[in-house]
Amino acid sequence: MGASTQISSGTSLFDPRILENLEWTAVKGCLSPPITNAAPGENWLLVRPLQLEDYDKGYLQLLSQLTSVGNIDSHVFKNQFYAMQKCGGYYIVVIEDLRKNQIIGTSTLLTEYKFIHECGLRARLEDVVVNNTYRGKQLGKLIVLTVTLLSRKLGCYKMSLDCKDSLIPFYKSIGYKLEPGNSNSMVIRYDSVNTSNIF
Ligand SMILES: CC(C)(COP(=O)(O)OP(=O)(O)OC[C@H]1O[C@@H](n2cnc3c(N)ncnc32)[C@H](O)[C@@H]1OP(=O)(O)O)[C@@H](O)C(=O)NCCC(=O)NCCS
Repeated sequence: MGASTQISSGTSLFDPRILENLEWTAVKGCLSPPITNAAPGENWLLVRPLQLEDYDKGYLQLLSQLTSVGNIDSHVFKNQFYAMQKCGGYYIVVIEDLRKNQIIGTSTLLTEYKFIHECGLRARLEDVVVNNTYRGKQLGKLIVLTVTLLSRKLGCYKMSLDCKDSLIPFYKSIGYKLEPGNSNSMVIRYDSVNTSNIF
């Protein structure tokens, strides 16, 4: 176990200081042994915002363990990165293995401005993945709890996610709940081959 005091130079998607002082005491029962984004359990692990330089640290290869990514060159990646940064509200957090300069975990907190709930801020969890050779070491819980606590710090009134049935126990173990009568996820996909049969 060791506190990660490393600072990573690079162009961050958002201010790294936003990740300081998250309220880990609120979730201490979820992790055994307890770890936090500031002290992730090994001194070679670093939890930080996504950086532009992560294109060369295997960020997209990691995402390809979650779903199809496609062929994205560094120019396209850069444009998308700056589009998210300019837009604001995108909090992509990564875990880096500093021994290998490799991104081994990520999750995204997406915030959404609302008129309802007195002009509230709503949070969505997206794109959670841990490199398959690092799974089962609490890094999944760590990366999800980091953005969950961040959403709370930002003042969001709720955070939600879509997941496969098999992952319900994983999310339940870190505090997410199925709300009776309000646990459906529906979708229209526009990426299917036969687009004439969508509606
Ligand atoms: C889901 C995922 C992020 C979990 O990462 P991880 O680092 O292995 O998670 P943890 O070590 O923190 O595991 C936490 C718990 O969840 C369980 N768990 C992890 N992955 C699971 C899976 N795919 N199905 C069911 N349970 C799972 C573990 O058994 C563990 O249970 P325990 O605490 O009772 O022992 C990882 O399996 C992954 O990247 N999967 C592929 C991408 C994916 O499906 N992402 C989620 C999209 S919603």
